Amino acid sequence: WKTLDDMDLTGKRVLVRVDINVPMEDGHVTDTTRIDRIVPTVRDVLAAGGIPILMAHYGRPKGKVVPEMSLSHVVPTLSDILDQPIAFIDGNYGDRIAALQAGDIALLENLRFNPGEEANDAGFAQRLASLGDVYVNDAFSTAHRAHASTEALAKLLPACAGRLMQEELSALEAALGTPERPVVAIVGGAKVSTKLDLLGNLVEKVNHLVIGGGMANTFLAAQGIGVGKSLAEHEMANTARDIIAKAKTTGCEIILPRDIVVAKEFKENAQHQTVAAGACPEDQMILDAGPTTVDYIKGVLKDAKTLIMNGPLGVFELAPFHKATFDVLDEIARQTKAGELVSVAGGGDTVAAVNASGHEGDFTYISTAGGAFLEWMEGKTLPGVAALEG
Ligand code: 3PG
Repeated sequence: WKTLDDMDLTGKRVLVRVDINVPMEDGHVTDTTRIDRIVPTVRDVLAAGGIPILMAHYGRPKGKVVPEMSLSHVVPTLSDILDQPIAFIDGNYGDRIAALQAGDIALLENLRFNPGEEANDAGFAQRLASLGDVYVNDAFSTAHRAHASTEALAKLLPACAGRLMQEELSALEAALGTPERPVVAIVGGAKVSTKLDLLGNLVEKVNHLVIGGGMANTFLAAQGIGVGKSLAEHEMANTARDIIAKAKTTGCEIILPRDIVVAKEFKENAQHQTVAAGACPEDQMILDAGPTTVDYIKGVLKDAKTLIMNGPLGVFELAPFHKATFDVLDEIARQTKAGELVSVAGGGDTVAAVNASGHEGDFTYISTAGGAFLEWMEGKTLPGVAALEG
């Protein structure tokens, strides 16, 4: 795919697909990360003499106009971050676009207000194409959706990747495509069923796969290890055993908790104890991995060159069950800062855990993507990326 450096943008209207699907409370943006990360592309388009016309979705309005999901709510924050007024265009595209001048930045209303967006409708894509001369996709985090603005449109105009898209793709390539080995993957989260394809792909690609969180309980239970009242998907036992068997053939070491922190209640500061995996009392649940497990993971990390993380090791939102996750994050941060490890993390929960641990600046790369990061880790081709390849 091409980049901004390959395009002549002078005097051109540049349609830039961005992902500014940011968390909001009471109409105010509460986390600006995704907006901050599109700044280089917008600046570079302006510097090259182009007029950026930003296109994005917000929420899932399902083809209807839902005022709370209007991108107008994002305009004040966007304008602050880009340090200039934004021309917000909420319909009647033609006239407003024609009035734009060099130096202006425009933002179109939520594309998903139009049913043609999610339907990847050729007519809607054509209408968007008529507004610009060049198409830039800077929305890696929406690239798993084959929508009009991510897929069909890319084929109608000269197209390229924006700076954030470039950055995401090269970080992910460095982590799983052609990584320096050994590679460690840490995968956590509640359910094996949502991360099945991902685990199947990872055992083929990484040297060590640490499984944490509720998913680890499912794997322990599948091996006949008692997990008490823990969250576990017992119906996934066969699948978990298949993944363990596949890992043996690929030479991937699967690392499960060796000791566990258990409690009777799922709440902050619940009375708890650390026991060996296999010694979970019947009336208790596993809420974190224990220190022996953490030490083992740290040992594996010490020899590793690359780390990819998606999902916490325990219930990091409830102290003290954040301990295993935070201790491992401390070690990843230390090794990354020392230049010993390339570390990449992505996904909503993971980024929340990294931020809560205070290590947001210490990873080599933190992806802005949730669903797209998962699909990419599953080894899938993302339609938004494939469309740029032409
Ligand atoms: C995200 O927040 O992961 C992206 O903006 C995609 O949103 P979607 O899951 O509603 O397509």
